[in-house]
Amino acid sequence: MKVLVTGGAGYIGSTVCSALLDSGHMPVILDSLVTGQEVFTQGRIFYKGDIADAALVGRLFDEHPDIQVVVHCAALIVVPESMEKPYEYYRENVSKSTEFFKILVDRGISGVVFSSSASIYSVVENFKVTEDSPLAPQSPYARTKFMMEMVLKDFATAYGLRGIALRYFNPIGADPKLRSGIHVREPSHVVGKLVDCARGKLPKFEVTGVNWPTRDGSGLRDYIHVWDLARAHVAAVEKFNGIFHSKPNNERYEVINLGTGQGVTVKELLASFERVFGKALNKGEAPPRPGDNAGSYASCEKAQDLLLWKAEKSIDEGIRDALRWGEMRRTVLGYD
Ligand SMILES: NC(=O)c1ccc[n+]([C@@H]2O[C@H](COP(=O)([O-])OP(=O)(O)OC[C@H]3O[C@@H](n4cnc5c(N)ncnc54)[C@H](O)[C@@H]3O)[C@@H](O)[C@H]2O)c1
Repeated sequence: MKVLVTGGAGYIGSTVCSALLDSGHMPVILDSLVTGQEVFTQGRIFYKGDIADAALVGRLFDEHPDIQVVVHCAALIVVPESMEKPYEYYRENVSKSTEFFKILVDRGISGVVFSSSASIYSVVENFKVTEDSPLAPQSPYARTKFMMEMVLKDFATAYGLRGIALRYFNPIGADPKLRSGIHVREPSHVVGKLVDCARGKLPKFEVTGVNWPTRDGSGLRDYIHVWDLARAHVAAVEKFNGIFHSKPNNERYEVINLGTGQGVTVKELLASFERVFGKALNKGEAPPRPGDNAGSYASCEKAQDLLLWKAEKSIDEGIRDALRWGEMRRTVLGYD
């Protein structure tokens, strides 16, 4: 199957492309390289450009008329940056994605798999969220994801596009074959910071927020190996038609959590990291960052029912692959 992957030069999109290739599919990448890495597209079909460039997207579909499903990963993704630059986030993630979805409708594309985020959930009492749990996005970034879910749902109702929003929890690790991994120079995510600390790039690892109502006061997350996440996209693409055939009333929109179903606190993650790394890190505590919350973990039943998928890799494997990628990323990216 040929699949358009926007943001296919990014961390998750490139891993999705690897998983598609390993399953015998053909990804076609569209990425502006605003943050992504050209090296992740090597040997793959790649169109460099913006998702809202109608002429380019039109040419891409002319040259690949057999594309029926699109995986839409392209976005700006840094929560603190979104608080400083909301205009850029709403423009890139909402305005441009809306234009892009309109192009898909005009081209008669039948399906979109959209990268959404667990950051749109409200905090619930036992931290476990189902797809029907209340939503309360806390940052401009999270609000762009929430808004695009609504756009996709409305487009599905009005224009016949079918959409699956995949709500990712907290991706960690790298492609197990190390074709790609985290590429940002200063990762804002916790495992990226832990790796930087282990490699001496950061002097200290700070647990940000230690007074949350969790079992040890640190934030609770659901860390999912990026390879498991990528495999879920392959399942979504392969099962796309089947998922909608079985839905009543001709419904054309679906939301699915992608997590492990295990809530892990930052302090627990830190302990696992030190065990896998084999050494203690220099560590401290700091106040929560703007937009942070106590966190959540996924109810995964729907993913199992609809995608016949569940996360298989452990948190230790995620940490190990993040460390392996950290060691070789200078060779691939040209910077540490
Ligand atoms: N990384 C996470 O923790 C996480 C969690 C939940 C959801 N997500 C979502 O997953 C998706 C991928 O995230 P990632 O971590 O791989 O980020 P990333 O920055 O590595 O990848 C995003 C890619 O999109 C490209 N891009 C951005 N705007 C574009 C545009 N207008 N036109 C064409 N290309 C554009 C970038 O160049 C980059 O390659 C995003 O939609 C993000 O919101 C990520």
